[in-house]
Amino acid sequence: MARLLIVHHTVSPATRELLDGVLDGARTDDIEGVRVQVKAALAATVTDLLEADAVVLGTPANIGYMSGALKHFFDTVYYQAQADTLGLPYTLYVHGDNDTSGAVRSVESVAKGMGWSRHRPPVTVTGRPDAAARESCWELGAVTALAALEHAEARA
Ligand SMILES: Cc1cc2nc3c(=O)[nH]c(=O)nc-3n(C[C@H](O)[C@H](O)[C@H](O)COP(=O)(O)O)c2cc1C
Repeated sequence: MARLLIVHHTVSPATRELLDGVLDGARTDDIEGVRVQVKAALAATVTDLLEADAVVLGTPANIGYMSGALKHFFDTVYYQAQADTLGLPYTLYVHGDNDTSGAVRSVESVAKGMGWSRHRPPVTVTGRPDAAARESCWELGAVTALAALEHAEARA
């Protein structure tokens, strides 16, 4: 069974809506053979990551950067998991009030350092999520679940 890891920092109803969209897409009945593991960024471990075939990262924008919680996740896993997760497909969603660009840049920079492979452009949402935002998150969850399947098959 392939594994999809979702590492998120969820701080409010708006960020919860985005996470729920990703979860619904990742768990769609149309995709079989993927186990979805959902971890708060402050609780996700190196083992969670090493077991994953693909990762969705979710964060609010905080002072032009990823949240401290997601940064903590990267600080935790960076050296211990780097060599064993090269090429790992990942996707990203970011929620902000008005400008998510610094947060996106920060995550993409660390993920590049890890040697991960960006599977899709990030989903960025400002303000209250609308139907299009929820749909984009649903798609992000579904395509990353498919990426987990493909990556697991390639590694088998
Ligand atoms: C300390 C702090 C820094 C923030 N910095 C940014 C920022 O740089 N860019 C941005 O778009 N939003 C920023 N925000 C807004 C958060 O991203 C936003 O509150 C979060 O995504 C949750 O959305 P909500 O408050 O609409 O529920 C910041 C919020 C806080 C508390």
